[in-house]
Amino acid sequence: MKQALVTGAAGFIGFHLVRALLRAGYAVVGIDNLNSYYSPALKLARLTESGIDADTLEKEGKASSVKGEPYRFLKLDLAHREAMERLFEENHFDLVINLAGQAGVRYSIENPYSYVESNVLGFLNVLECCRHHRPDHLLYASSSSVYGLQETTPYREDQMTDTPVSLYAATKKSNELMAHAYSKLYGIPATGLRFFTVYGPWGRPDMAPFLFLRNVMAGQPIRVFNHGNLSRDFTYVDDIIAGVMSLLNHLPSGAVPHSVYNIGHSSPVRLMDFIHEIERVAGRPAVMQMEEMQPGDVYSTFADTTRLHDATGYAPRVALPEGISRFYEWYVGFYGEGTV
Ligand SMILES: NC(=O)c1ccc[n+]([C@@H]2O[C@H](COP(=O)([O-])OP(=O)(O)OC[C@H]3O[C@@H](n4cnc5c(N)ncnc54)[C@H](O)[C@@H]3O)[C@@H](O)[C@H]2O)c1
Repeated sequence: MKQALVTGAAGFIGFHLVRALLRAGYAVVGIDNLNSYYSPALKLARLTESGIDADTLEKEGKASSVKGEPYRFLKLDLAHREAMERLFEENHFDLVINLAGQAGVRYSIENPYSYVESNVLGFLNVLECCRHHRPDHLLYASSSSVYGLQETTPYREDQMTDTPVSLYAATKKSNELMAHAYSKLYGIPATGLRFFTVYGPWGRPDMAPFLFLRNVMAGQPIRVFNHGNLSRDFTYVDDIIAGVMSLLNHLPSGAVPHSVYNIGHSSPVRLMDFIHEIERVAGRPAVMQMEEMQPGDVYSTFADTTRLHDATGYAPRVALPEGISRFYEWYVGFYGEGTV
């Protein structure tokens, strides 16, 4: 049985990926530092759903799934070099999938150091461990934010990505450059995953879909940046996971075995249309508080997924109305109809 390491396993995408890997017959080791950038209770709830007992984790800092699946979780910080080295010495990983990272654009203006610590130093630790322990394939989260403010859409992977407009984007671009260098120097097959605005069940409380739904349901105002003149390539989480799974055994080759792929829905939605979808599921109108553009933010995102389609046959399946309905069902099941 092949074994995969998933970093950021208590996070939104990590939680879904662990489930997909287990379904596909992998043994999985998950790590996460369970930081409080957003509700650690939600991260623990995701772990509980994956069979990790919170009390055991609290006492021992690690736990195996009580569901009888080959899943082990350890509370561990990517930036902790010795702990990462020990993890790789004690386990053999066929696949390493790095999803741990400090996300968010606005937060990077107030807390720049946490981005460098997790996304740059933490990723260097992952690369060093891969250099010494040779997994078959390293996959790592990049982001659509690397495209910055470019007006040429849809975004293609061979487009220039040298003008990030947030520190977050700069750290993601750094990851691509660092992975490229390690692939060249040490022949590590590595694949960067440029995710486009992910939403769905178990989603992140700091992101617009969650903030909008929560506030609209509670009759509270929502903040609408750039007066609603924004668009995003909202991508349902199952489509993101399908894209990642399709790449696991698709090893980059050539003199530098490194590639990057967009994973998105390829159909950007205007923010006001997105808000209408939220109003539809919530069954009430949004109270909109119009605001200026946020520093560090981009006007639109739009993935060209031709490269991924040509490589793996990838095609996104979940349209926005269906995805938002599923997100709503999860939200109400998890939090109830009241405010959070
Ligand atoms: N969700 C999106 O729309 C989106 C879009 C583009 C890129 N990404 C990237 O995909 C990855 C996963 O995103 P997500 O939405 O699941 O975010 P998330 O915040 O839900 O998950 C990331 C997890 O990493 C953990 N983490 C952070 N720093 C860590 C560290 N130093 N050591 C160990 N664990 C650490 C956090 O506790 C969190 O559980 C991130 O790298 C993110 O930047 C996400």
